[in-house]
Amino acid sequence: MKWLVAVIKPFTLEDVRQALADAGVRGMTVGEVRGCGRERGDTELYRGAGYAVDFLPKLRIEVAVADDRVERAIEAICEAAHTGKAGDGKLFVLPLEHVVRARTREVDADAL
Ligand SMILES: Nc1ncnc2c1ncn2[C@@H]1O[C@H](COP(=O)(O)OP(=O)(O)OP(=O)(O)O)[C@@H](O)[C@H]1O
Ligand SMILES: [Mg+2]
Repeated sequence: MKWLVAVIKPFTLEDVRQALADAGVRGMTVGEVRGCGRERGDTELYRGAGYAVDFLPKLRIEVAVADDRVERAIEAICEAAHTGKAGDGKLFVLPLEHVVRARTREVDADAL
């Protein structure tokens, strides 16, 4: 299993959610965050303040995915989040050790 963390533009959320559902991934956690990507250096230079940074509103999606769905999920997120402009987002893929569904005590892939 993998833990996918995707930071995306907020207005793409519904497309991303739908794309993940189409890829067989349903549960997810979404949080409002602020972030900056590699434009940071340019922003700093432009503002001339040395360390000032523009943090833009983003959404962080976290989703646990069974191994056989990881590639589909990544593809789904990338396609739905894509506008072609800077700041479309980034995915981080982490190993996921264990999952438990509280209601049934099902574990791992059965709990997703
Ligand atoms: N190295 C990183 N570590 C943690 N979070 C990051 C990192 N890079 C990007 N992010 C998060 O992802 C968001 C979107 O990043 P963004 O798409 O701007 O990446 P980028 O590398 O600048 O690519 P692009 O050139 O397409 O803009 C950032 O606002 C930040 O929240
Ligand atoms: Mg960027």
